[in-house]
Amino acid sequence: MTPSTGPAEPGPAQPPAVSPEQSAREQALVDEVVASFAGAESPRLRQLMQALTRHLHAFVREARLTEEEWSAAVEFLTAAGHITDDKRQEFILLSDVLGLSMQTIAVNNEAVGDATEATVFGPFFVEGAPRIEQGGDLAFGAKGQPCWVEGRVSDTSGRPIAGARIDVWEADADGCYDVQYGDDRTAARGQLFTDEDGGYRFWAVTPTPYPIPHDGPVGRMLQAVGRSPMRAAHLHFMVAAEGHRTLVTHIFVAGDEYLTHDSVFGVKESLVRDFAVQPPGTPTPDGRELGDTEWARTRFDVVLATVPASPH
Ligand code: BEZ
Ligand code: FE
Repeated sequence: MTPSTGPAEPGPAQPPAVSPEQSAREQALVDEVVASFAGAESPRLRQLMQALTRHLHAFVREARLTEEEWSAAVEFLTAAGHITDDKRQEFILLSDVLGLSMQTIAVNNEAVGDATEATVFGPFFVEGAPRIEQGGDLAFGAKGQPCWVEGRVSDTSGRPIAGARIDVWEADADGCYDVQYGDDRTAARGQLFTDEDGGYRFWAVTPTPYPIPHDGPVGRMLQAVGRSPMRAAHLHFMVAAEGHRTLVTHIFVAGDEYLTHDSVFGVKESLVRDFAVQPPGTPTPDGRELGDTEWARTRFDVVLATVPASPH
């Protein structure tokens, strides 16, 4: 006998049918609000406000939102506002877990040739990270397995880009960024510049999975819907060079258990890399002595899109 697999998954809930009169009343309100923006001086602002109105009203109508649910949504946004300050940005976190950040990135970073794909920025970038030389160590004492990272930055025609600025930042092996310790330490971040051949190399720590901040309303929402706050292990990169589109991205660790359910939908297959673990005693690329410590190595070649010349 075939074992029962239980009841079939219900499909998406269908909105209850409303009478033609009710539907017309609701549509009249949408039209009235859309028209209220017609006089906006900026055509772009007009377009944004009218599209926002249409989509928000469509949500309320499709979901047949109750007044209690509307109040709960207001309370949720109020809580997000209360927890937000110059260090904690709950609204960006909300955008991240709804996939809106990644959708905005997709819309604004159209594929150009083999240009490297972009992903979320996240809240832990810090301006003015310490400069390191080629082959330097940006761990600055952060806990974790030493990891050698190397690669080359080029344009979409394969020409190397010398002097490209590379910012790198990551969480330590305990899943925390330096700024989360609240003690002014700087660790696991740095900035370096590509050499004449577009090459770069540095020591970091092997990335490990960690949760996004989940002690606020966004975390409570994730829990209520049975979603994990974990991010797939990653190393953040921002690569900038004159005449090229600045790339904000990460590399992810092949085999990581969270690759298929990253809490902010940031994983792209093209960004997954092998972090090959080297047994203790394996000679390091730069002769660094690591004694009986295991270390890892990876390679990330970056391709930057060219910024089209402005028409004037
Ligand atoms: C991060 O990768 O650092 C991150 C991205 C989105 C939300 C929270 C953290
Ligand atoms: Fe991160």
